[in-house]
Amino acid sequence: MESTDRIGEVVLDVQDLRTYFVTRWGVVKAVDGVSFQIKRGETLGVVGESGSGKSVTALSVMRLVPSPPGHIVGGKVLLEGEDILQLDDGEMENIRGSRIGMVLQDPMTALNPVFDIEDQVGEALRIHKDMSGEGLQTEVIDMLRKVRIPAPEIRMKDFPHQLSGGMRQRVVGAIGISCDPAVLIADEPTTSLDATIQAQYLRLLRELQELTGVGIIFITHDFGIVAKMCDRVAVMYAGRVVEQGDVRQIFNNPSHPYTEALIQSVPKLEVKEERLYSIPGQPPALWNLPQGCAFADRCRYTHDKCHEAYPDTFTVDEGQIAACWLREKEAIATES
Ligand SMILES: Nc1ncnc2c1ncn2[C@@H]1O[C@H](COP(=O)(O)OP(=O)(O)O)[C@@H](O)[C@H]1O
Ligand code: SF4
Ligand SMILES: [Mg+2]
Repeated sequence: MESTDRIGEVVLDVQDLRTYFVTRWGVVKAVDGVSFQIKRGETLGVVGESGSGKSVTALSVMRLVPSPPGHIVGGKVLLEGEDILQLDDGEMENIRGSRIGMVLQDPMTALNPVFDIEDQVGEALRIHKDMSGEGLQTEVIDMLRKVRIPAPEIRMKDFPHQLSGGMRQRVVGAIGISCDPAVLIADEPTTSLDATIQAQYLRLLRELQELTGVGIIFITHDFGIVAKMCDRVAVMYAGRVVEQGDVRQIFNNPSHPYTEALIQSVPKLEVKEERLYSIPGQPPALWNLPQGCAFADRCRYTHDKCHEAYPDTFTVDEGQIAACWLREKEAIATES
């Protein structure tokens, strides 16, 4: 899949992003030095257990971190070369919903029950593209046709409850791409949805990408879905990216023990396992991180160095990096 024409120039370049929450327990370092890039037409999976900082990363890119208690305290978010962390609130509002879109998996939370479909699909076009009247209506019909809503001229007069779940999701998709964004963010819902709805959602995202070439940030705790959906993967643990690479590199040669454990805990369809592997222990509290590797208490390869300092990032292979002291230990073992 890599190096096809589908994938183009970098559209989003996140550099050393830091988002902290000031709480009564202390400073929660929810995102602490996260970097990744997304190219046109590419899907980056951001994966990790609950609480690892995935949603806060997405909220930071949208500049929707609840503040207080949250603050983006460092880093850059370059959207097509421009650092959007430097924009004022008004400029940022123009970017949200136009150059960065969001497609929520649960259409009922994404749609407003009291407005018809035409209103909701047209809203971003009205605000960001200054469209109105017949021109706007034609564009709305066109958007709905693109996401394969049958008889869009008629269906656009419907309210959300008059559409099937699948169609509602397509409407959310149409809203997400209505202004032809450079980046789409797809964050998993907090409560798990029906498997059929989820499958429809994944198909929809792929279709939207084929239609527009949009770069997608796909957030999930489920490594199994990453294999189906993504070109690249960033594995998050305790607010940091611990490994990053192409999907194939990550699955064929996971080089961080956390990635290895996550892959091991994916259920395999062809094997009926008696008990699924689950990673022992719990992630550490983000307001009280150890000075060494945050995974040390749960890692099967922990050694002295791991407790001393946070591991350096090393290059595993072209395009693949990991932050772990194991490689250093192995190198010393090979030398001696
Ligand atoms: N409004 C908030 N106030 C304080 N802490 C928060 C807030 N939102 C998120 N956090 C902290 O940030 C961490 C990362 O959260 P989140 O990004 O939602 O995780 P996930 O990877 O499950 O999406 C959590 O451990 C949580 O404690
Ligand atoms: S640095 Fe040490 S504890 Fe952390 S993942 Fe690597 S081997 Fe395990
Ligand atoms: Mg989340």
